[in-house]
Amino acid sequence: MRQKLVIANWKMHGNLALNKQLLAACTEKLSSLKNVDVVVCVPYPYLAQAQSMLQNTSIAWGAQNLSKDSDGPFTGEVSANMLKDFGATHVIIGHSERATAYCESDENIATKFMQAKTHGLIPILCVGETLIEREAGVMQMVVAKQLDTIINTYGASVFAGTIISYEPIWAIGTGLAASAEQAQSMHKFIRDKVAEYDQTAASQLKILYGGSVNPQNAVQLFSMQDIDGGLIGKCSLNAQEFEGICQAAVR
Ligand code: 13P
Repeated sequence: MRQKLVIANWKMHGNLALNKQLLAACTEKLSSLKNVDVVVCVPYPYLAQAQSMLQNTSIAWGAQNLSKDSDGPFTGEVSANMLKDFGATHVIIGHSERATAYCESDENIATKFMQAKTHGLIPILCVGETLIEREAGVMQMVVAKQLDTIINTYGASVFAGTIISYEPIWAIGTGLAASAEQAQSMHKFIRDKVAEYDQTAASQLKILYGGSVNPQNAVQLFSMQDIDGGLIGKCSLNAQEFEGICQAAVR
């Protein structure tokens, strides 16, 4: 039985004062919740704030990107070890907002995935299709290609203990979430694909859904067999809504 997991992706939102309120509300509301793990992925400058406010609580914290290199002359980049210095345990890899805006290739994303893993961070690998790809019926092919880059380079066993987040691009920030059936079908496809190579890794793998999750639609989404929780954008910036989503994961 995989424990449910809800991860906040704050994206490029917040400031010291707002974060303080949000983190305080989250610790107050969420600390007593059983049977759900909660992680907050903050912008780099606020890792120290997350560390000081979340240490000794049940909530973990992480980042939204990392460098594909371990260290060196890479101006503006942030390494896995730097994230670990601030107690981060998780890191989002290959979010479509980055992949599109900063031209991150599947190969680049695969390298970052391994960089996180080898430094003891839990990668949260984002995959998903555009609306055009879904309407053309090629969504499984698109997601398979994203996974294949990692599988062909490092083997499917690397997925053991990691997280994949299925985030259809058409559902991110649009208010139009995938239906529970659409999401379940893709999640099962992802798990089956990993299981073709490594049954144990597939059964341990947490597969989250991301894209316009709210406290209402979370109930049905999280009730599906292969949906192990959510990666939450907008609603993670509101303590009450985020709590509602975490409550849905507990049910
Ligand atoms: P929204 O929940 O705002 O749609 O964002 C989803 C997302 O991109 C999570 O990574």
